[in-house]
Amino acid sequence: MNQKHWNDFWNQGFITTFGETLPTNYTGNLRNFWEEVFLSLENHCKILDVATGNGAIASIAADKISRSNKDVSIYAADAAVISESVKQLPLKTKELRKSINFFSNTPCESLPFSQEHFDLVTSQFGIEYSDWNLSLKEIFRVLKTGASAHFVCHHEKSSIVAPSMSEASIYESAMKKYRIFDAAIGFIQIIATTGCPTNQQASTQLNKTINDFRLEFSGNQLCSSLIAEIAEPMKRLRAIGTERVLTQLKSRKAEFESAHARLLDMKNAALNDTDIKNVLAKSREIGFSSADSLNFNNQLGLIGIHLHLVK
Ligand SMILES: C[S@@+](CC[C@H](N)C(=O)[O-])C[C@H]1O[C@@H](n2cnc3c(N)ncnc32)[C@H](O)[C@@H]1O
Repeated sequence: MNQKHWNDFWNQGFITTFGETLPTNYTGNLRNFWEEVFLSLENHCKILDVATGNGAIASIAADKISRSNKDVSIYAADAAVISESVKQLPLKTKELRKSINFFSNTPCESLPFSQEHFDLVTSQFGIEYSDWNLSLKEIFRVLKTGASAHFVCHHEKSSIVAPSMSEASIYESAMKKYRIFDAAIGFIQIIATTGCPTNQQASTQLNKTINDFRLEFSGNQLCSSLIAEIAEPMKRLRAIGTERVLTQLKSRKAEFESAHARLLDMKNAALNDTDIKNVLAKSREIGFSSADSLNFNNQLGLIGIHLHLVK
């Protein structure tokens, strides 16, 4: 899998996948769920969070454990590069995060840990991005006998995934069908090469492209923000010049391509009911003594699926 879009995302210093929407870590039912899981840990145990991102769940573990008298070693791994620092975390959590043993460039399909190493393996909106055939075997290998794995995974019908899919189709249209960023970049390049600040033909072409996109998604907020992201640097053309407008347009295009790629990853990762049955069956086949699933809900309805495996 191409990890660049995840590397770029985590490099911005977010603690959760929801960026500015959840800037200080997960809250509500998700947080309560993980706190409960970590509450049951014994002294001197080792835990591993896979597909950890910037370590949101591992940080909840560190927080919870710091409030007990237990000595627990926390490991957290991701296929992407995990950022050294995260922004907007409370100072105490930032300090606690330093106690986590992070492993970047570490896919779930190949874990650099010895067998029977961990008392608990966790993952939230993570392990389902991996190849289950390989990752389940790895989780089984590194877990101690009798220990559990708890995964909260995306479900294709959840209130997180379903609306994101309409967002993905708007990105798809903006980037691939209308190519609105390329149209704006092309327009500025014409101005840069001709040295003429107005070019009627190029300007009519750009307006048509943007209007066609706007008409298809009339009234949609994401569509309006994408257009605003293009309009904003272009309005400043006279003040900042073609080179800087081009740089800003290219950087925004890259950001939105990355957001689109993350949404497509989510779409491919999300489980349907047949996938869940298959994962549970595969887990039992590998040797887990029990494998169960439960819908995970909050006030918005279904937000994921909880898989609980015991070795
Ligand atoms: C939606 S994010 C979830 C991050 C974090 N668990 C959270 O809840 O905020 C998915 C993460 O899975 C990681 N990922 C994708 N494929 C992976 C794999 N095969 N092994 C490990 N991590 C993977 C991505 O790099 C990304 O950080």
